[in-house]
Amino acid sequence: MKICITGGAGFIGSNIAEHYIKLGHEVVIIDNLALGFRQNIPDGAKFYHIDINDEEIHDIFKKEKFDIVNHHAALMSVRYSVSMPLEDARTNILGSINLLEASKNSGVKKFIFSSFAGTVYGEQDVFPCDENHPNRPVSPYGVSKLSTEKYIEYYNTLYDMDFVIFRYTNVYGRRQNPLGEAGVVAIFALKMLNNQPTYITGDGSITRDYVYIDDILSAHELALNDNVKGIFNIATGIETDLNHIFDKLANLTNYKLPKVYTPPKLGEQKRSVCTADKFKNLTGWQPLTMLDEGLPKTVEFYKSYNAK
Ligand SMILES: NC(=O)c1ccc[n+]([C@@H]2O[C@H](COP(=O)([O-])OP(=O)(O)OC[C@H]3O[C@@H](n4cnc5c(N)ncnc54)[C@H](O)[C@@H]3O)[C@@H](O)[C@H]2O)c1
Repeated sequence: MKICITGGAGFIGSNIAEHYIKLGHEVVIIDNLALGFRQNIPDGAKFYHIDINDEEIHDIFKKEKFDIVNHHAALMSVRYSVSMPLEDARTNILGSINLLEASKNSGVKKFIFSSFAGTVYGEQDVFPCDENHPNRPVSPYGVSKLSTEKYIEYYNTLYDMDFVIFRYTNVYGRRQNPLGEAGVVAIFALKMLNNQPTYITGDGSITRDYVYIDDILSAHELALNDNVKGIFNIATGIETDLNHIFDKLANLTNYKLPKVYTPPKLGEQKRSVCTADKFKNLTGWQPLTMLDEGLPKTVEFYKSYNAK
């Protein structure tokens, strides 16, 4: 199949691109390199250096005639979205609509979207929560993810474009940007390996559900199947607090500096953990790499990391 991956120079998109190429698909990457890196683009992928909001997107879609669009381009920091809500909406909502329009006009069969479970549910009533949990985003980023989900459903209703919306919990693993604002495992790992002060926001009791990148790849392989359509959490169902992540990584990196706590950040929910039973029941998918295996692999990757 011919697959367009937006954000394919970033952490998750580049890993998916590599995986799809291995599976024999033709991959075209669209990325403006705002947060991604040219070096992440795998051999064998065609690359357009362009913003998803650009008018030229429509010409590219008409020329390339993609079967599938896998949309990962985004500004993906809760904190940035709180301080720059207009920028967040421009990329995350308007950019997504531009891609949906181009997809509709060029006959794309399926639109796959990376949403963010924690931010679209907000503070949860039940732990872990499923896809039917009320949506109460507490950040512009969560609002923009949810808006895009609604637009995707609208394009499905009116134009019959199939879709898969994956609501990931917190993804970690190789190629996550350790110098960015989001991605605590990468940030902690690099700081600890360099023996630099490593700050914990709040009192460290914030919890998240951490999914290893390889488990995201197996989900995206299944998303290509015709019978896979709809909204699915991609999660482990295991809740881990920040203090625990700090301790595990400190142990793996032989980091000895004390924990330093900083004030909690606006827009970040306190607990987040989801069940992926809906996706498991449909496809047999299982998360196979738990933190005990994923954290050492991630630390190994950052041992040879060169800031670009
Ligand atoms: N990392 C996570 O834990 C997580 C969790 C849930 C959802 N997601 C979603 O997954 C997707 C990928 O996240 P990631 O962690 O790989 O982030 P990333 O920052 O590594 O990748 C995002 C990519 O999008 C590109 N991009 C940003 N704005 C663009 C624009 N206007 N036009 C073209 N390209 C643009 C960036 O250059 C970057 O390469 C995002 O949509 C994010 O919201 C990530």
